[in-house]
Amino acid sequence: MNKTTNRRQWLQRAGLSSAGFLLAPAIASQARPQTSAKTWSSESRVWERNLTFTPEMNGLKARLLANENPYGPSDKAKVAMMEAISDGNRYQHADAARLKAMLAEREGVTTDHIILGPGSTDLLEKVAITQFLDGGNVVSADPAYMALIKTALAFRAEWRNVPLTKDWAHDLDAMYKAIDSDTRLVYICNPNNPTGSLTDSNALRAFCRKAAKKTMVFVDEAYLEFLAPDEQDSMVDLVGEGHNIIVTRTFSKIHAMAGLRVGYSVGLPETLEAITAKVRDNMGLNVSAIRGAMASLEDETFLTNSRNWTRETRAFTFDSLKALGYAPIPSYTSFMLFPLLPETDGKAYLEQMYGQGVGVRVFELDDKPWCRVSMGTMPEMQLFVESFKRVAG
Ligand SMILES: Cc1ncc(COP(=O)(O)O)c(C=O)c1O
Repeated sequence: MNKTTNRRQWLQRAGLSSAGFLLAPAIASQARPQTSAKTWSSESRVWERNLTFTPEMNGLKARLLANENPYGPSDKAKVAMMEAISDGNRYQHADAARLKAMLAEREGVTTDHIILGPGSTDLLEKVAITQFLDGGNVVSADPAYMALIKTALAFRAEWRNVPLTKDWAHDLDAMYKAIDSDTRLVYICNPNNPTGSLTDSNALRAFCRKAAKKTMVFVDEAYLEFLAPDEQDSMVDLVGEGHNIIVTRTFSKIHAMAGLRVGYSVGLPETLEAITAKVRDNMGLNVSAIRGAMASLEDETFLTNSRNWTRETRAFTFDSLKALGYAPIPSYTSFMLFPLLPETDGKAYLEQMYGQGVGVRVFELDDKPWCRVSMGTMPEMQLFVESFKRVAG
C-alpha cells in the first residue's frame, strides 16, 4: 500500500479528512485507554524519542525542538546584560532582591512570596525534592511536562497520572478523586506541554481552591503569556488569598531568555521558607541574567511583538498542517502537537527532518507517533512546512 493510500485510510478512519479535523482530539482520545484510579503507573503513556543535544544542533536551519523563542532577548535586555558583566565580581543578591521586588509588585504580593531560580526547571526540581523526600504521591495530567514528576519519581513517589479529557483539558474531577492522604502535590501545567492545550481557568480556579485544602497545588504557567493579555487568567491571586498553591513562571518563553536561565515561583512565605531551609534560591542565578530579566519585564513592545508574532506563525502552521490533511491540537502556546500517520517510524521521520535542517520532536502517545513543533520565525515555519511536505507529504 502506498503512502498516499495509507494516509487517506488513516484520515478516513480517524475522521480527520476535510471538515473532520475539529473532531480530531475527541476521536484520538477515544482510542486512548483511560487509566483506572487504582492502577497508577510510573510510566507515562507518552514516550518521547530520546533527544540528545549535540553541538551540531546550533547548525540547524530551523531549531523547532525546545520551545525556544526566536525573537529575543529584547534589545533592552541585551544592553542591560552587557553592562552588568562588569559587576560580575560581586555576588548578585542585591540584584536578585530588586528583581524579586519588581515581580512582587507585578504579581500583587509581598517579596516573601517570591523565590527565584536559574530557570523554572530549577524550581520544579527543588519543590519536588522538598515535597517528596519521604515519598508520597504526585497527581498530574498525562501527558504532562515531566520535570517535576521525574524528580518525584526519583524519590520513589508514586505518580498518579490522570489522562487529559477528550478535548485535551485537565480532567479536574478525576484529578481531585486521585488525591488522598499520601498526596504531597498536584501538578498542573496550563497551558499544557506537550499538548499546547488550555484548561478553563474558572474550572481550574475552583479546583485549586478545593484541592489546596488537601495538598499543595503547583501551577506551571510557563506559556500563559502567549494568550491575549485579557485572557491571561493566572492562578497567582489564589496565593494572595492564602491558599496552598505555588505558581511558576519563566523568562525562557515569552521573554526569549532560555539560555540565560531565570524563573520564579509565587507561593506562601511558609512554603518558600520550607524550601529555602533546605536549598538556596538565588545562588544559581547570575547578575547579567537578572538585569536582563528586569529590563525585559519593562520592554512592553518586545513582549507584545513576541506574543503577536508567535500567534501569527501558529496560525500559519495550523492552517498549513490542516491543508495537508493533518489535525494539530489547537495550541495556546509557542508550539503545536499533531499526529503523524500511524505507520510513521518516528526515528526515521526525525532523521529526515534533521536532514532538511529542521529540528522537531516526536512523542509516542498511546503507541502512535506525534510531532511537536515549536514556533520559529515565519521563514523558519515556511521551511518546516516545505520540509514536512517532502518528508511526510
Ligand atoms: C511547561 C514548562 N515548564 C517549565 C519549563 C522549564 O523552562 P525553564 O527551565 O527554561 O524555565 C518548560 C520548558 O520547556 C516547560 O515547557
